[in-house]
Amino acid sequence: MRILTHPEIARIESWESINLMAVAAANVILESVRENPEAMITYATGNTMVPVYEATETIVNETDIPFQRTRAAHLDEYWPANPDLDEFSFVRYLRDRVFKPLKIPLGQRFEIDGTAADPSEEALRYDEVLSRNPVALAILGIGPGGHIGFNERGTPFNSRTHFTRLSEETIRRDHDERRLSTPKTAITQGTANVLEADRILMVAFGSEKGGYLFEALYGLISSECPASALRTAGKKVTIIIDETAAGVLGAK
Ligand code: GLP
Repeated sequence: MRILTHPEIARIESWESINLMAVAAANVILESVRENPEAMITYATGNTMVPVYEATETIVNETDIPFQRTRAAHLDEYWPANPDLDEFSFVRYLRDRVFKPLKIPLGQRFEIDGTAADPSEEALRYDEVLSRNPVALAILGIGPGGHIGFNERGTPFNSRTHFTRLSEETIRRDHDERRLSTPKTAITQGTANVLEADRILMVAFGSEKGGYLFEALYGLISSECPASALRTAGKKVTIIIDETAAGVLGAK
């Protein structure tokens, strides 16, 4: 593992493989549960997080770190999305990959309802859930245009949970990479919600993510690159990446 130094971000770790990166990220999640067995954790979705949650589940099964008292929320959900029917639903992903494997009880899971008739009202409801349950750890991936959650380019840093239209680059990514016909709108935690967490963990691997990260870490701190907001709260941020992503950071 190699530590990359950055003027604003407290810790950036570059790992030799995606597996090692995933175990390191899993250990950050487990550490926050060890520190506070009732921790409220917001989980990111996406391909990046698949090995991280698999590693977390493996360690949990081998040790006695209980998630039963933790609370779990998430970053974003397509709208409309029905977790029982739609393969692309992030709630479906979380139930399958996080909530069930980590045995987080139903009453402690806070899901964004992608079937809500009024998505703006649902966003307000979710924002209140987050206000009542301060977040110990916010887990993030990074997406097209440096988006975090579905805070696309141009979303103000002070935004709270809201209903949003996806950017053309995100719609293209979903179409090309995920081969899914996803809705063009979503409900997402705002950047302000993310920044309120006690601790923030961002995970990324591969050269494409390295490019997004480069802009976030070395470009202007601006709502034009939502992930650059992490630098305004850098003391509580850990970024865990693989060496391919790190290579892009170093090479640019
Ligand atoms: C998605 C989600 C994010 C996710 C990011 C990265 O669009 N809105 O919550 O973190 O993009 O996804 P992936 O890891 O699949 O690249």
